[in-house]
Amino acid sequence: MYSVIEISPKVFWVGGNDRRLERFENMFPLPNGVSYNSYLIGDEKTALIDTVDASISALYLENVTHVLGDRKLDYLVINHMEPDHCANIEEIVRRYPDVKVVGNKKTFQFFEQYYSLDLSSNYMEIQEGDELKLGDHTLRFYFAPMVHWPEVMFTYEVSKGILFSADAFGSFGALSGNIFADETDFENAFLDESRRYYANIVGRYGMQVQAALKKVSTLEINMICSVHGPIWRKNLAYLLDKYDKWSRYIPEQKGIVLFYASMYGNTENVMNVLANKLAMRGIQDIRMYDVSKTHPSYIISDVWKYSHMVIASPTYNMHLYFVMDALLREMSALGLKNRKVSLIGNHTWSSAALKVMQVIISTMKNVELVGTPLDIRSSLKPEQDADVDALADAIYASLSEQ
Ligand code: FEO
Repeated sequence: MYSVIEISPKVFWVGGNDRRLERFENMFPLPNGVSYNSYLIGDEKTALIDTVDASISALYLENVTHVLGDRKLDYLVINHMEPDHCANIEEIVRRYPDVKVVGNKKTFQFFEQYYSLDLSSNYMEIQEGDELKLGDHTLRFYFAPMVHWPEVMFTYEVSKGILFSADAFGSFGALSGNIFADETDFENAFLDESRRYYANIVGRYGMQVQAALKKVSTLEINMICSVHGPIWRKNLAYLLDKYDKWSRYIPEQKGIVLFYASMYGNTENVMNVLANKLAMRGIQDIRMYDVSKTHPSYIISDVWKYSHMVIASPTYNMHLYFVMDALLREMSALGLKNRKVSLIGNHTWSSAALKVMQVIISTMKNVELVGTPLDIRSSLKPEQDADVDALADAIYASLSEQ
């Protein structure tokens, strides 16, 4: 049966959830599922904003049919052409053949790359700032290229101040009836998953996110409707502040994440010794991960959150342990910057890990090395205790700086 929620007079959430999907984009684990949000405005003219992933097509089409009743669909606005939002465009046009498909030049280019049905007679190409009057509601379009693809646009509903923001302000995590962020315990239920979504999906495009935020900063925004995760109608400043920090690569808070690769537990042991020393100096909320166990998206999310990190890895095949190598290169590709890093290598006969880590870290802007890197030979010995103490002191001093 249909399952819709009226989020503002005549504006309906017609999306749905997928709790079965193992990995988003076949890469990122979804322990709490994901929502695909779509919105339908039923004014004098009707407008559907984005569609959903193929996995929930049946419910989605029932939702749309239910809200429209015997009315026709006048407009289908495509804010984003990624298939998790576009899988139902063809079916919508089959059902409502007179619908105008609203997008920009790139939208239609991507549509034709992904799909084969010729919809060119349905195209309504808009330009930045164009408006579409639906009755009481008016849609205005703002291009937001690379948040997260080049064709992305935001659709702003002028009368109520609703920003339909495509992937921006999205989150992993299915919606459990409470589709508004203020109806959830957001900090416990969604904040980590919002950050993990941002850092891993949109993280590379901080500059473009900043440009988009600036573009809409003069608008009166009362509600933010992303294509994933909860809808925001209260305390928007909280969300905007998070997005501003994340997209400027500014840590949310001082704190430290330790992550290591370890084949036989010796590098892990160094990290445990160091973590205990940090704790004894009063450092709290220490996070530690084994890169072979924890999916990189969680580590990247914490690296986005905290100011400091310690990275430890053995040499492997005269190189950096491959799992760590992939993680650090991913961080670099995501454009991570403005962090403080301490490094620990481990090797038995030939040291490579520490050098490769230094090379990868040097590709990140404004990443400062804290303390003297340690290079362990196979396992930590009591005579190196002073070196670990010195590293703990340096990290403590750096974390204590204002
Ligand atoms: Fe949820 Fe970039 O698509």
